[in-house]
Amino acid sequence: MIEFKQVTKHIGAEVSGVDLRKPLSEGEVQEIRQGWLKYKVLFFRDQHITDEEHVRFAENFGTINHPAFKKDSGSPIHILDQTDPKGEGGDEWHSDNTFEPIPPMGSLLRCIHLPSVGGDTLWANACMAYEALSPPIQRLCDELTAIHDITASMKKAISKGHDFDLAEIQAKWPPIERPVVRVHAETGLKALFVNRASTTRLVQLNDRENEALLPYLIDHIRSPEFQVRLNWRPGTLAFWDNRGTQHYAVADYTERRRMHRVTINAFPEHLDPEYRDG
Ligand code: SIN
Repeated sequence: MIEFKQVTKHIGAEVSGVDLRKPLSEGEVQEIRQGWLKYKVLFFRDQHITDEEHVRFAENFGTINHPAFKKDSGSPIHILDQTDPKGEGGDEWHSDNTFEPIPPMGSLLRCIHLPSVGGDTLWANACMAYEALSPPIQRLCDELTAIHDITASMKKAISKGHDFDLAEIQAKWPPIERPVVRVHAETGLKALFVNRASTTRLVQLNDRENEALLPYLIDHIRSPEFQVRLNWRPGTLAFWDNRGTQHYAVADYTERRRMHRVTINAFPEHLDPEYRDG
């Protein structure tokens, strides 16, 4: 029997009673999907699975989003293999790839190898962050849109020695405007949808207003009350919903950390209405 053990009051649950080496029944997929929508990030412990099993599990919930910047193989697995993680982009609060025309719905990250200490990941409940704003600020946010731009995070990665072609990437993903408050396509919950990695400007506000409000909204996600922190073990898999969360990879290690990640797009019936026709 699949069980969900809630980890904090507002986000995160550990899942037991499922073996990801085996194909899941339709009933199991639906149960896990409901738990995922409710808790926003699920942790599966002691799942020593292959890449193929990882991909098969992911495909129960969405279609594969091919890694955005990888120049090689076309594999659905994105490998994060780091000893000095600073500059990789994960050590800023973010929701994945909000600069893409349709940002990916979710991600499934599996721990292969860990440093002796450190390398945790945190997730924050962005719906809770919206709810915690005072009603007048909520109403203001409801009316705003923001620009999301890949440039700053790419420059940071390039300055750390990553081989990315900035001009090519900027041409592929020019700055894009999207609502500050995202309505979740499946739960209907509102989430604060600005993040430090990609959001550069609130469109309807002037410079001084941007200087005051944007950093406040971006930093609001940092409240511990909205968060859960995962201490990984090899064989742990985390599955999160990008539509109502942000995450942060703690850059506190200098030994090898290797993770395999599959990122998924929504099935057509789970797309935000604004993405359905394009
Ligand atoms: C990510 O930002 O998707 C990576 C998270 C991690 O490495 O813990």
